[in-house]
Amino acid sequence: MSHKIVFLPGDGAGPEVAEAALNVLNATGAKFDIALSVESFPFGGAGIDATGAPLPEETKAACLASDAVFLGAVGGPKWDGAAVRPEQGLLALRQELGVFANLRPIKVLPGMERQSPLREEIARGIDILIIRELTGGVYFGEREEGDERASDVCTYTKGEVERVARVAFEAAKGRGGRVTSVDKANVMATSRLWRKATTALRDAEYSEINLDHGLIDAMAMKLITSPGAFDVMLTENMFGDILSDEASVIGGSIGLAPSASLGVGTRGLYEPIHGSAPDIAGQDKANPVGAILSAAMMLRHSLGNEHAARAIENAIDEAVASGRGTGDIGGDDGTQQFADHICDLVAKG
Ligand code: NAD
Ligand code: IPM
Ligand code: MN
Repeated sequence: MSHKIVFLPGDGAGPEVAEAALNVLNATGAKFDIALSVESFPFGGAGIDATGAPLPEETKAACLASDAVFLGAVGGPKWDGAAVRPEQGLLALRQELGVFANLRPIKVLPGMERQSPLREEIARGIDILIIRELTGGVYFGEREEGDERASDVCTYTKGEVERVARVAFEAAKGRGGRVTSVDKANVMATSRLWRKATTALRDAEYSEINLDHGLIDAMAMKLITSPGAFDVMLTENMFGDILSDEASVIGGSIGLAPSASLGVGTRGLYEPIHGSAPDIAGQDKANPVGAILSAAMMLRHSLGNEHAARAIENAIDEAVASGRGTGDIGGDDGTQQFADHICDLVAKG
C-alpha cells in the first residue's frame, strides 16, 4: 500500500524548495522501495487566488485523509492588507490536523560553523531540539481588531501544556536527558501554569529527566552566548516561533532548518521553518536544505522509515561538508541543482 502524501507548495520560494524536496523524496522512495502517492493542492496565497480561501475545502479534506502533509511556505506582499491572509490557512491547517508539537531541530552541520554569525568554537557541534507548542497560546486566543484598541488573548490549559511537555521529555530520553523550559513566569499567568504543569509532570513520570526553567529574555541571550548549554528546549507557541528563527542562523542560514509538527498518531505536517522569502523568490536561490530535511523527518515520523531518513540526512551532511550549497551558505548551487546532487548521493549511497 502506498503512503498518501499531500503536497502544498504554497507561495514565493515555497514551490521552489517544495519541488526540491519532492525530487529527493522520490529518489529516496525509489532507492528504498517506498511506495508514495503524492498529490499537490492549492494553499495559502495560492489557495486564495484559486478559491478565495487560504485553506480550500478540497485541500483540507485531502490533508485530513493523508498520511503526511508537506508544505513549502505561505505568504507574501501580494496578500498583505487583504481581507484574508495566507497565514490564516496555515494556522487553520495546524489546528485541523491537531499537530500540537512542533519539532525544530537546530544543528550546525559539519563545515557550517564557518558560516555562523557566532565564533566557530561556539557554533561547532551545536545540536538543539526546540519543541514549540503549536496549537495554543496567543495564536489561537480571542482577537479584537481595531484602530483605537486591539487585543490578542493568550490562554493555555494544563492539558495543553502536559501533552507537549510529554513530547519534550520523551525526546530528551533519546538524547542528553535535559529539557530547558522557556517561559515568562515573572509576568505571565500562562507561564506560571506552564512552569507548574511541566514540573509536576517531570516529578510524577520523568524523574530521570533534568528539567530547568528559564525566562525568555535571558534564554534568547544565552542562545547566542552559550548555545551548547541546550539539549531540548521546550516552549510555548510565540516564544518558539521567535527562538527558532534566532537559533536557526547559528547554523549559517534559516534555509537549513526543518520542522515536523505532530499530534496524536503518526500523521504529521512537515515544513521548513522559513517563510516564502519574497526577496529571493523565483530566482532559484532559495536554500532547499530545510525543506529536504523536513522530508527526512516525514520519512522518520509519519512513514516509519528511519533508514531512509538517515540516508537523506547523511547525503546533506556530505554535500554541505564538501562545499556544495546555495549562496546563503557560501556555495554556488541553484536550488534545483543542489537537490539533484542530493538525489545522486542518495541513489549511490
Ligand atoms: P522569511 O523566512 O520568508 O525570510 C527572512 C529572510 O530569510 C529573507 O531575507 C529571506 O531571503 C531569507 N530566507 C528565507 N528562507 C530562505 C531560504 N530557503 N534560503 C535562503 N534564504 C532564505 O521571513 P519574512 O520575510 O519575514 O516572511 C515572508 C513571508 O513568509 C511572510 O508573509 C510571512 O508571514 C511568511 N512566513 C511563512 C512561513 C511558513 O509558511 N511556514 C514561515 C515564516 C514566514
Ligand atoms: C512559522 C511562521 C508562522 C508562525 C506564520 C507564517 C503563521 O512564522 O511557521 O514559523 O508564526 O507559526
Ligand atoms: Mn516563524
